[in-house]
Parts: sequence; structure tokens; C-alpha cells
Amino acid sequence: MTALNPSGWRPESPSAATGVPTATASNSATTTGNRALMLEEPLIFEIGDNESTGVDFDVSPSPLAGEGQRSVATQGEGAPQQSAQSPLPNPSPATGRGAIRLANLLRIAPINLPGLSEPQTVRHYTRLSRQNYAIDLGLFPLGSCTMKHNPRLNEKMARLPGFADIHPLQPQETVQGAFQLIDTLAHWLIELTGMHSVAMSPKAGAHGELCGILAIRAALEARGDARSVVLVPESAHGTNPATAAFAGYKVEDIPATAEGRVDLAALTARLGPDVAAVMITNPNTCGLFEPEMKAISDAVHAAGGLVYCDGANFNAIVGRVRPGDLGIDAMHINLHKTFSTPHGGGGPGSGPVVMSEALSPYAPLPYVERAGGGYHMVEEESAHDQGSDSFGRMVAFHGQMGMFTRALSYILSHGADGLRQVAEDSVLNANYLLRSLEDVLDAPFAFSGPCMHEAIFSDKGFAEGFSTIDVAKALIDEGFHPMTMYFPLVVHGAMLVEPTETESKASLDQFIVALRSIAGRARAGDEALKAAPVFAPRRRLDETLAARKPVLTYQNPVPDASDSGKGAMIGGG
Ligand SMILES: Cc1ncc(COP(=O)(O)O)c(C=O)c1O
Repeated sequence: MTALNPSGWRPESPSAATGVPTATASNSATTTGNRALMLEEPLIFEIGDNESTGVDFDVSPSPLAGEGQRSVATQGEGAPQQSAQSPLPNPSPATGRGAIRLANLLRIAPINLPGLSEPQTVRHYTRLSRQNYAIDLGLFPLGSCTMKHNPRLNEKMARLPGFADIHPLQPQETVQGAFQLIDTLAHWLIELTGMHSVAMSPKAGAHGELCGILAIRAALEARGDARSVVLVPESAHGTNPATAAFAGYKVEDIPATAEGRVDLAALTARLGPDVAAVMITNPNTCGLFEPEMKAISDAVHAAGGLVYCDGANFNAIVGRVRPGDLGIDAMHINLHKTFSTPHGGGGPGSGPVVMSEALSPYAPLPYVERAGGGYHMVEEESAHDQGSDSFGRMVAFHGQMGMFTRALSYILSHGADGLRQVAEDSVLNANYLLRSLEDVLDAPFAFSGPCMHEAIFSDKGFAEGFSTIDVAKALIDEGFHPMTMYFPLVVHGAMLVEPTETESKASLDQFIVALRSIAGRARAGDEALKAAPVFAPRRRLDETLAARKPVLTYQNPVPDASDSGKGAMIGGG
């Protein structure tokens, strides 16, 4: 019954109709289910022997042992195994030294840890990593996400022991270098944005948005003017309305114009004494700059509100435009986008928030201050004396030190002129893609003029029954991570493509060739497109089921009766 390749994957022959090389009968299947040097295997929980490796500690048998319970010392090879399925019995009240030392958490039954040798384990994870796609492998054109190269110099700097091996609770005089680094980065961010101050501690873009909105609320409350509504244009990123709602505001939409920009007339008409703030993404999620930003800010201020700008797309304008000159009161910067710190895979983000003079007193604590030839942290105890009316804290300590180090390395290695070129190259690359594809893919805002850092396309013109997802899946077969799909919502079947400034013309040309061919097939209604991906380790998955009914914990497979104590394999057949 157990299959050689129990997880169910088999290399399959792509249809001849796809126009890609077709596997022949002799090479479409292998005895093992492996494909070339890509090995196929089950999950780590399903291989090896459970409970068969480990270290026995010299612990005297617990008084608990004997009544259906065992001490740690009796675990291991040869020990009677309890069924993988059996629930843990309730531990008896703690008695004896072992129980006390283990705080009543003494293990009383096998917990089915996989038992594998080191080479087996190393190979398993290395094989998994080879199935992953990463920015170090190729173009990663996720629009809005800015997946760009992470320079190795940044990594080297972040690993310097003086930055990497310190602790936030160390005496302040022993971490003066780290404080100086935070302060230097803060000055660059203030300088580049033309703002008055910066809150360094928020740990992601959305966290920065919350920080900005909480500061805005504190500022309004301080003047006895609590307001209830935040206006969010349709062209804003999805986290903007989510943040405003999370902070307790009523969110109202402002429509976009046919050119994909904020409708200034509609915005101005809605302003009033209940509007606390406007949250605008600029450049917006259609990849366009909002040229009327100053007029928007002036109108909001005249109505007594404040202006939050989502600055996640700052890489498109850094060194060219200073948000402070556009009347913005608060704006987060995703260090993991503009300043090249690693992004994705759940890695640590960092979202410092630059603030106007009006908002600065309400910034979160703690913050680094330079005084008397050194640096110190301003905390709750001293904040009031420093003129702070802070709304509180965003995090326990100071923010993402490792990301600060990487971002400052990037800034210093580029210098002011290099950062300006970052913006110019990100815009150049996106426009190269836009103009190279607009004859085969509908580009709804191409007529609005040059895009900024990302180009947007729609599924208009595809044959009946074909959609953006078919294009995205076919890109996987062609060796590219798909672009952002179905976002922003203002464009039907949106494909948001962001090449970033770090891509070469050669890699953009390859991507263009691939996308032009796939777009042609979608327009022609090539049914084979619907089977894509055919060369990936996994075929097309049921994404709706995965989103609606996610299985977020490992589920113990049904044990094979002939092989007790070892997890049975999923699938097979
Ligand atoms: C425009 C924009 N705003 C905000 C965010 C949220 O940033 P984060 O993912 O760091 O929370 C993103 C992330 O993709 C974004 O693209």
C-alpha cells in the first residue's frame, strides 16, 4: 500500500498544446518519484522513527513512575511506546524532586518527535530550501512588496558583534555605539523626508501606520477635538483602512479618478469637523504619484484634520521628493522595502514613522536622544521633562536593531546621490516593463503618463474563462515568481508588477519574453494554460479551500497497523 513516493507528487507530462517541451513516456516517470536531482519526500514528521533518538539524562526515577507514567530516564530506545494517537493522561499532582524541578511539566508519554540522524535532517531541510523561491534565485516581481536584492554588505555589518550581541537591558553606557547608529539612521530618515522627527520603534509598515494614527489621535485629543472619521482613498493600500478601523475610527472611502488618482473634489467635499485624518498611499497602489498631494494636505489642514501618508513606496521618490514639503504629518517608511533589508518569509520588518513638528510631541517612547556628548534613552520617567506628550509605547524596547544596521549600511554605501538613483532606476525599470507589455496586456493607467515603481495590468482582453491566476501560474513554469494578483481592487483582475531598481535589463528582458508569450496564450484561449504549473513540485492547489479552511497545525497521519510507533504516510496509493 505504501507508495514509493507517498506524498502523492508525480512528475507529469505537460500537454503538447502548451508549446513547451513535452516529456516522453520514458522520462515522465521515475521509479522513485524523484525528478532529476530534486528528491520528493514526505514531511519530516512522517519519516524516520519516532522517539528513537535523543539523550537520556541521569535523573533518578520520579515517584510518579509506575502508575502508568514514566520518568524521563526511561524514555528512548527500547522503552514501551504508547500509541501515537493516545491522548496524554492527566498528570497526578506533583510530588518528588523531579516533578518539582520540572514545574509539574514532567513528560509522561511519548510526544512523537521525529527521530532522524543528522544527515537525514540536514538533507531534508536542504531539499526543502531548494524547492523555495527567493530573491537570491531570480526576479520577484510582487507589486507593492518591493522584493529587492539584500546586499551582503548589510548582512556583514548586522553581524558585527558590537551590534549583534548586545541586549536591550544592558546599561546604556555600554551600548553607546548602537545608540549612535539609531540616531544617525534617524537623521538620514528625517533629512530624506524633510520631516521634523522620527519614531524608530515600529516593527513593520502596518505597525507604523498604527503608530501614526495613535499620534494623530493624541494630538487631536490634546486640543480637545476628538474626531471620529478617517478618509481613505480607493487607491490606498489595504492596511490603511484596516489600521484606521483598528484604532477605532469609522472609515470612509474616497473614490479614485479614471486616471487612478485621488478625486480631490470628492475628498474636499467630504472634509468636515468629524474628519480626524486622511490616509493616503503615495505613490499609490496603482503605481502612480499623487500630484495634488500638497493641495490635499492644505485642504485637510484647513478643515482641522491631519494627513497620514503611507510611505511604503518611498523607494520610487527617495532623493527626489520630500514628503515634508507636501504637508504630510506622519508617514511610515518600510526599511524592508526602500532600504533593502530582508523582506518576506515572515522576517522582521521595520517601519519607522517620520512626523511633522505638530505631531512630534505625541511620538511613542522610548527614543534615543543625544546630550552631553553621549546618548541616552528617553523613557516614561523623563519624557515629560523633555516636552513629550507621548501616546505610549509601540514595543517593549527600541525597535529592530538588526534592520537599523542593515538600512544604515545601505544608506551609507549609496550616499545621497546613490539614493536618488535608487528612485530613478526603480521608475525606469517599471516603465520599461509597462511600455514593453502594454500592447499584449491591458494597462488601464498607461495613458496617465509614466508610472512610478510598479506597473499595473488587467485581465481585459483575455479569452472567455481565462483570468489573472492562469497567467500567474504559467509564470511559475517559466521560472518566475508571480506578480501581485487581484490587487488593487480598483482594477479588474489586476496584475501589479514591481521589478525594483536592482534588476538588470537582461533579467527584465527575460521576464518580458515570458509574460508576452503567456499573455498571448491567455488572449488566444489556450486551454493548456489552465493546467499550469506543470513543472513545479506541486501542481495548481485549491487556494480557496486553503484560505477558507486553512489547516494550521500538523495532523498526525493515520498509523499503519503493521508499523506501530511510526507515523504512516499521507497520500500514497
Ligand atoms: C503600500 C503599502 N503599505 C503598507 C504595507 C504594510 O507594510 P508591512 O507589510 O511592513 O506591514 C505594505 C506592504 O506590502 C505596502 O505595500
